[in-house]
Amino acid sequence: MEQAQTYNYKVVRQFAIMTIVWGIVGMAVGVWIAAQLVWPQLNLEIEYLTFGRLRPLHTNAVIFAFGGSALFATSYYIVQRTCQTRLFSDGLAAFTFWGWQAIIVLAAITLPLGKTMGKEYAELEWPIAILVAVVWVAYAIVFFGTIMKRRVQHIYVANWFFGAYILTIAVLHIVNNMSMPVTMFKSYSMYPGAMDAMVQWWYGHNAVGFFLTAAFLGMMYYFVPKQAGRPIYSYRLSVVHFWALISLYMWAGPHHLHYTALPDWVQSLGMVFSLMLLAPSWGGMINGIMTLSGAWHKLRTDPILRFLIVSLSFYGMSTFEGPMMSIKTVNALSHYTDWTIGHVHGGALGWVAMISIGALYALIPVLFGRERMYSVKLIEWHFWLSTIGVVLYIVSMWIAGVMQGLMWRAVNDDGTLTYSFVETLVPMYPYYTVRFLGGLLFLLGMFIMAWNVWKTVAGAKPAVHAVPQAAH
Ligand code: HEM
Ligand code: HEM
Repeated sequence: MEQAQTYNYKVVRQFAIMTIVWGIVGMAVGVWIAAQLVWPQLNLEIEYLTFGRLRPLHTNAVIFAFGGSALFATSYYIVQRTCQTRLFSDGLAAFTFWGWQAIIVLAAITLPLGKTMGKEYAELEWPIAILVAVVWVAYAIVFFGTIMKRRVQHIYVANWFFGAYILTIAVLHIVNNMSMPVTMFKSYSMYPGAMDAMVQWWYGHNAVGFFLTAAFLGMMYYFVPKQAGRPIYSYRLSVVHFWALISLYMWAGPHHLHYTALPDWVQSLGMVFSLMLLAPSWGGMINGIMTLSGAWHKLRTDPILRFLIVSLSFYGMSTFEGPMMSIKTVNALSHYTDWTIGHVHGGALGWVAMISIGALYALIPVLFGRERMYSVKLIEWHFWLSTIGVVLYIVSMWIAGVMQGLMWRAVNDDGTLTYSFVETLVPMYPYYTVRFLGGLLFLLGMFIMAWNVWKTVAGAKPAVHAVPQAAH
């Protein structure tokens, strides 16, 4: 009875703390592989620790362990608060926590061992992929079950974004992982040739669209108005950009496969849908940033709000850059180069990581019954380290990427290539070094956060908040 009248914060606390832990681990691996690109000796001649093995470990750790934990924490928190009811099932929620952590540990073991499906962002071999599907279905039951038993009529906009992400990721994961197991850790995709590539990038792009975008917009729609102390700028805009975003994203995948064996018209279709995506993406950014209108002064004093708003600016930047890169002639230059890596981290560090960090700083004191974080000064430091870190990362990759693209396509009068591949690598060293330094600054910020959170929660009693009795 007691339980039925309070919110389930336990699972939120668990995921929130693990977000920081996995953030540090995933980014530390990122800094390490960035260092390997500058100093190849760091591959240490141990096959498990080579760049090729650690790169998927980095992507899985930052996207699914860090990003995933942040999304579990915030979606479980937001759905309870906005539906004014406890989570649908404590048991299933606990299962999603332990199941997700088990998946992360299994990934951290199998990827360095070289067990991989070979599909980017879907590397985990079939037994682990099945576990992912089971945990995800449990997540869907907890989330939608809570929506069903809500005590307010309205479904708050953040929940639409979380709902769309949970449903879509289930479909994407299951379809893309359809494969024929041959041994315990080896399977072959069910789809042949170009079709396999299309399914993979339909998955890959929607992983960006729903995991790294729609879900984090859900986070944004709760924490930006909350931290700004103002209602969301435009309810109508949120409806329009939600439907436009989720219906357009589905078609944009072929921009990852320009100039391949994929039929030409499919590539052009992907390009056109990507260009259209600019509008709903910016709809979300504008709705978030304009929520501050009339309260801009708060940005000067509140570093948490600054994390949230700057993350929206990076979101706007990467969703302008993405549509440009999807234009076939631009992609002919950018594809395979570090420009793509810069684009990825503009979104991943600038948007995904910074909005998560802002949300966590707002959430941690609430979850542990503290008035505020231990030190606002340290949040300030974290903010500047992250911002400078991202800027160093993406600017160095832009320069490196455009240089690579131009050098690869340079031809002599007689039609031979001007530069050999190695000649195009040598000028990259300074830029790879700057990227490494940018990453290091970002990681340093995460350590400062861990310290600040530790000082905030140490000795604190977990908070228990009653569910309001009168529904409105
Ligand atoms: C300290 C921060 C980070 C550093 C230093 C870092 C570094 C790197 C490096 C060196 C690569 C390989 C690039 C290459 O193959 O040339 C990479 C790839 C990648 N990273 Fe990070 N990373 C960081 C944070 C993150 C975060 C927070 C995310 C996601 C939320 C992320 C997502 C990715 C993805 C998706 C790729 C693959 C990109 C592609 O295949 O195009 N990274 N990262
Ligand atoms: C309107 C929105 C966006 C569009 C149209 C778009 C478009 C693109 C394009 C054209 C590429 C290069 C494909 C290639 O040459 O192989 C790309 C790569 C990528 N983008 Fe975006 N992008 C958008 C937003 C974002 C955001 C917000 C993020 C992250 C949070 C992101 C993450 C990625 C990743 C991880 C890749 C690398 C995929 C890979 O090859 O491994 N994108 N995007």
